[in-house]
Amino acid sequence: MKLPGSPHVAYRGDVLMLEDCPVADLAARFGTPLYAYSQGAMHSALAAYQRALEGRDHLICYAVKANSNLAVLQTFARAGCGFDIVSAGELARVLAAGASPSKVVFSGVGKTRAEMREALDVGVMCFNIESEAELEALSAVASETGRTARISLRVNPDVDAKTHPYISTGLKGNKFGIAHERAVAVYARAAALPGIEIVGIDCHIGSQITEIDPYLDALDRMLDLVEAIEATGVTLHHLDLGGGLGITYTDEQPPSAGELIGALLQRIDVRGHGHRKLMFEPGRSLVGNAGVLVTEVLYLKPSDDADGKHFCIVDAAMNDMARPAMYEAWMGIVPCRLRDGPPVTYDVVGPVCESGDWLGRDRALAVQAGDHLALLSAGAYGMSMASNYNTRGRAAEVMVSGGEAWLIRERETPAELFRGEHLLPT
Ligand code: LLP
Repeated sequence: MKLPGSPHVAYRGDVLMLEDCPVADLAARFGTPLYAYSQGAMHSALAAYQRALEGRDHLICYAVKANSNLAVLQTFARAGCGFDIVSAGELARVLAAGASPSKVVFSGVGKTRAEMREALDVGVMCFNIESEAELEALSAVASETGRTARISLRVNPDVDAKTHPYISTGLKGNKFGIAHERAVAVYARAAALPGIEIVGIDCHIGSQITEIDPYLDALDRMLDLVEAIEATGVTLHHLDLGGGLGITYTDEQPPSAGELIGALLQRIDVRGHGHRKLMFEPGRSLVGNAGVLVTEVLYLKPSDDADGKHFCIVDAAMNDMARPAMYEAWMGIVPCRLRDGPPVTYDVVGPVCESGDWLGRDRALAVQAGDHLALLSAGAYGMSMASNYNTRGRAAEVMVSGGEAWLIRERETPAELFRGEHLLPT
């Protein structure tokens, strides 16, 4: 059976493998629910970006929010990546993983003054500024602390990324970025503010984008702006085009990183901007297809009605993987060991007390209680969006390379979940 996504997740005979590790063996060794990642898949996804940008001044800043496990960050830091962060928490993580602050960009619409101070103290490469009020606040914080904040403005290019409304960010009605029409004036203001050094410009138009055209539209709008801004005497050293490249969950056919960057470089060169430092902030496309969420079938609950629903109740739930419940996202679900026998159409659901707690609907599966299933392409926005709803400890995580597997995050225990809570005095 051919699976969508990464070649690092594939059947060998009847056995689902992650690189050279049978996934069911990982489940037996580390328990379930379990996130398991292929380090090889992460390396090859990054290499595709690096190859496409070879010979150019560039920096790939992995978007930490997609998967923020320290070992994942360490994998990318060692491979030369920078990081795109959105909180002081993510800053602490990248530093703990060995990243250099000089390769960190700080994005996000609601950076607090305390977060700005921390990022200035360690010397991040750039703040991606999302509003005029934020720019004024950063100038004040930088001046107070006697530091200079390097900034780029995140411009909202007002293009349609043609993706899910919750993950589209480059349209006028979105909360993100500074309106295209305001950009020249806000750069002029930034140039006049104390404690601020302008270094670049950036945009990010959305996520799970499966076409090149929205990127080219955004690029053209950005280059128009770059020309208009530089005509006022402000120099922009880098152009950051954000993240957003989609992956294959089922039958999507997104461009490869090579195709996307090739098309962008061609346009950049034609317009005479080839000398500029280029930055990207990919998240999903570096880790999404590298991971699976492994779960055990607890119970089968068939329906007596001819047209009723059959449920396959598993030990992973919406708290472990929120994407189906939150975006109605379709994610592949396959057995870790294929069985003979006719498949039955199940809704695959978790133990959480909500009807919205489903992982897959109408899936044809030949399974029995005690079998293990793998939710595919779960490496991005899986564990990083996990919660403790229903006082469920978050899953363990393992990193696989060849036939080796390392525990990179321990399963949370109930005691850890209420550490920090207090009973009232009697
Ligand atoms: N840069 C910025 C400023 C972002 O906001 C994001 C993602 C990225 C980069 C990385 O985008 P990527 O390459 O991963 O598409 N939870 C949703 C996705 C939310 C994306 C948020 N921003 C999901 O599970 O589909």
